[in-house]
Amino acid sequence: MRKKLLVGNWKMNGLSSSLGEIKAMADAAERLTCGLVVVPPFTLIERASVVCCSSKLSVGGQDCHPQRSGAFTGDTSAEMLLDAGARYVILGHSERRSDHRETDNLVSTKAAAATQSGLVAIICVGETQEERDAGRTIEIVERQLAASVPAVATAANTVIAYEPVWAIGTGRVPTVAQIGEVHLAMYEALKQRFGGSGGSISLLYGGSVKPDNAASIFAVDYVDGALVGGASLKASDFVAIAEVLSAH
Ligand code: PGA
Repeated sequence: MRKKLLVGNWKMNGLSSSLGEIKAMADAAERLTCGLVVVPPFTLIERASVVCCSSKLSVGGQDCHPQRSGAFTGDTSAEMLLDAGARYVILGHSERRSDHRETDNLVSTKAAAATQSGLVAIICVGETQEERDAGRTIEIVERQLAASVPAVATAANTVIAYEPVWAIGTGRVPTVAQIGEVHLAMYEALKQRFGGSGGSISLLYGGSVKPDNAASIFAVDYVDGALVGGASLKASDFVAIAEVLSAH
């Protein structure tokens, strides 16, 4: 059974003054049936975890280093995220893949480290506009999945997010048929590789999800939730999307 999950990726946004939004999400989480995760910048993880501590809202990190500790200036390990109160970590987001040249292999190593530390890895995949125009979407997503998801992945420690690069922060959303085609392909690829457990890995869609398009996206087969950027910064929008998912 694939778990319904909504994840809010704050990217490089949020100061102490934003903790009130997290408190409002934590309060709303009590009446929601879907899982809810907020992923603030590293600087807010510990304080966000305190705000969420007795609620159903979980906290995540936006990246982690594959090593547990060492001489890696500016990096954060999975163990450190866990220690600060995080339970999830986003890995292989397209902004990390393009801005920091992260490869599938590196993402897989990070995901293995994250799951070994006890975090749930949210592994992102998705094609560029150019790749979609060339008719290579399924090939690209299947290749990224095969190479970015480590052998240790299970439904308990891994979530996949399909995020077409051209839909992130643009207001452009694929058609429901396009989302459905990719999600079915991901479901089948994971089931083939990992058996029954692979078929139970939650599959999120991400890219310009808003309260007003959430219902049509969540109605697509094999879409178990969303990874939300811009619309996760305000509790009112994020909770509105979570209510749609919970009602589904
Ligand atoms: P967006 O971002 O919802 O602002 O398009 C999604 C993401 O990057 O995860």
